[in-house]
Amino acid sequence: MAIQTVGIVGAGQMGNGIAHVFALAGFDVLLNDISQDGLDKALVTIRKNLERQVSREKISAKECEAALARISTTLTLSDLAQQDLIIEAATEKEDVKNEIFEKLKPHLNPKTILASNTSSISITRLASRTDRPGQFMGVHFMNPVPVMQLVELIRGIATDEATYQELKHVVEKLGKTHASAEDFPAFIVNRILIPMINEAVYTLYEGVGSVTSIDESMKLGAAHPMGPLELADFIGLDTCLAIMNVLHDGLADTKYRPCPLLTKYVEAGWLGRKTGRGFYDYSGDTPVPTR
Ligand code: CAA
Repeated sequence: MAIQTVGIVGAGQMGNGIAHVFALAGFDVLLNDISQDGLDKALVTIRKNLERQVSREKISAKECEAALARISTTLTLSDLAQQDLIIEAATEKEDVKNEIFEKLKPHLNPKTILASNTSSISITRLASRTDRPGQFMGVHFMNPVPVMQLVELIRGIATDEATYQELKHVVEKLGKTHASAEDFPAFIVNRILIPMINEAVYTLYEGVGSVTSIDESMKLGAAHPMGPLELADFIGLDTCLAIMNVLHDGLADTKYRPCPLLTKYVEAGWLGRKTGRGFYDYSGDTPVPTR
């Protein structure tokens, strides 16, 4: 089966980026969210990011308009049920994801492939709650989706070969590169990246460096495009904490304990860019370190 139509659940940071790249690659996209405001904001963001690509001469104005015309939105989850592929990109909470797949179940076309953009949760476990573990996979995009080249493909224990091959083909059609990861907590990228971010928060917590000196060190000393604290704000501190907890619980090793300062920031609602404050304050023109 050649995948042509795609349903995306969740119009947030990841969902809108995923909708953007699929529409640009010629797929028909149906984007779902629980809030109309979320859907409206996603369309504004997608237009802004596509226009940015036009202004950098990466795509033409015609391609931009054609991509936008391929995206429809709906508040009704079951509207997605006949799409060839459904990608869940909701918040990083297992019960939320299970509820989405549960609600889709009675309406689903038997051929539909289900995927989750989870950044850390077991694909095998998510798949086992559906009626089609063989047609279920992890398809993990990186933020910002239109820019980052990688897509991690994660097979659950029951994922069948045809599903894997189909999704490899989809990733190629998106013009991206896949890396296959086994289904262990946080897969490859986040298994390495998020403990590094957590260590940067410990470095701040223990007073080894300030926000600025930690970020400058990793940018200028290790050639990272963003410092780890800047990157944590970009990803979302709640997501970083959720991934550390998945690693800590799933691998039962104390080396993955979340830094208490990361927990405190999340408890305060300081989640990074999306709330206007994290390790930086984003209320002005330039981000200002908060420590
Ligand atoms: N849509 C489209 N284009 C975008 C974009 C977006 N959302 N954001 C940036 N761009 C484009 C810009 O237009 C620019 O294009 P050109 O190369 O043609 O000029 C290019 O990307 C670079 O952007 P900027 O010049 O604005 O800024 P920059 O050079 O500082 O790069 C960045 C921004 C690409 C985000 C860079 O800082 C970077 O790579 N940061 C690290 C990102 C990263 O590590 N992501 C992974 C996070 S982990 C993850 O996502 C997994 C998870 O589950 C948590």
